[in-house]
Amino acid sequence: MTEPAQYPDLVDRIVNLSKRRGFIFPSAEIYGGFRSTYDYGPLGVLLLRNVKDAWWRSMVQLRDDVVGIDAAILSSPRIWEASGHLANFTDPLVDCRNCHERWRADKIEGTCPNCGSADLTEPRAFNLMFKTYAGPVEDEATVAYLRPETAQGMFVNFMNVLTTTRKKPPFGIAQVGKSFRNEITPQNFVFRTREFEQMEMEYFVPPDEADTWFHYWLEERMRWYLDLGIPADHLRLRHHEADELSHYSAATADVEFLFPWGWDELEGIANRTDYDLKAHAAHSGERLEYFDQASGERYVPYVIEPAAGATRTMMAFLLAAYREDEVGGERRTVLALDPRLAPYQVAVLPLSKNDTLVPLSREVLGLLQPVAVCDFDVTQSIGRRYRRQDEVGTPFCVTVDFESLEDRAVTVRHRDTTEQVRVPIDRVAQEIAQRLRP
Ligand code: GAP
Repeated sequence: MTEPAQYPDLVDRIVNLSKRRGFIFPSAEIYGGFRSTYDYGPLGVLLLRNVKDAWWRSMVQLRDDVVGIDAAILSSPRIWEASGHLANFTDPLVDCRNCHERWRADKIEGTCPNCGSADLTEPRAFNLMFKTYAGPVEDEATVAYLRPETAQGMFVNFMNVLTTTRKKPPFGIAQVGKSFRNEITPQNFVFRTREFEQMEMEYFVPPDEADTWFHYWLEERMRWYLDLGIPADHLRLRHHEADELSHYSAATADVEFLFPWGWDELEGIANRTDYDLKAHAAHSGERLEYFDQASGERYVPYVIEPAAGATRTMMAFLLAAYREDEVGGERRTVLALDPRLAPYQVAVLPLSKNDTLVPLSREVLGLLQPVAVCDFDVTQSIGRRYRRQDEVGTPFCVTVDFESLEDRAVTVRHRDTTEQVRVPIDRVAQEIAQRLRP
């Protein structure tokens, strides 16, 4: 396979491919779209789910020290008062006095990117939380917020999880789900949107072990991206300077990906100290601490938090996987996605639409469906169908031809090498399952 493509218009190519093949559609498109929101189509929903499943597998399933939760999206203002979000979760907003566009002051260089005017207002703090009302009365008492991060759901459930699971530090609580931020300038496709998905884990540790675990999680998380196919030269860790740290953090490093517009964040890994548990304890009046029966010691754990964006990471996987190459004198587009991420792992393709091949092809499909996510495609020439599968990253095509009726064998074609091997139908599910195993 060739290296990742370095096209100046790579983002446009991914946006077009996403729309054309059903990964990501602009939301409310029939009404002209809606403010940089996106809908995930039949292939996008599979890819995004695979990204989240790969994260969950590595962060929860393959460990005995991390458990999951799924907390409410709609939440009490008291959470956001305690966490500091009501006071601090702001971006500096400026207005252009000439064209009346609004911008994030820290993302522009003194002039309006729309009209070029330098006549901008003084920056003012703009809170990014979406505010709504819970119940039929719209007043101060019913104000609620859509969560701007999943993290607080883990902190407010700390005691619930501790007592129900009998875990002891070091242990973690993981969560995957939607978060909402009223971003001033959503941009770069699904890189920055107002509605997005996060994959976050709060790892509670004895305070004197915080630094060790911080470095442990930096390594673990870098490994996860590399293992799933992000090239090493497109991935780096960037440690935050002291003046860049969030209000809760003692140390933060970002996992950054080399996007077409430059290095940018995929994930933040932070040592949040005991800030959150102490803040929630103070505001709620509840004790949020760990009592070690054996030593009689009582303490508030420190928290190491790897916080990744699922939708943003999905975009990085698409960008990193995009290739154009030539096979048999024909140009093709390929998504060289890891088979664990590919929307379809197998496509079953009857060589012709001919009725005689379809029943056997359906039999093969039935054998493969329990071991892999399959597509079944009978339209167009076989060459075109291979191209269509390459373009969406399907690692294996299984072709049923007229010989299959005689020898009960099929052709398995590999996406990256285009190599084809003949496999007996009785063994095809086992063969594919083996080749899909990491
Ligand atoms: N709990 C800590 C926290 O939320 P963050 O750095 O603000 O930290 C974590 O967010 C990750 O969530 C980011 O690294 C990014 O991948 C993703 N993310 C944040 N805001 C986003 C947005 N507006 N659109 C898409 N993804 C976003």
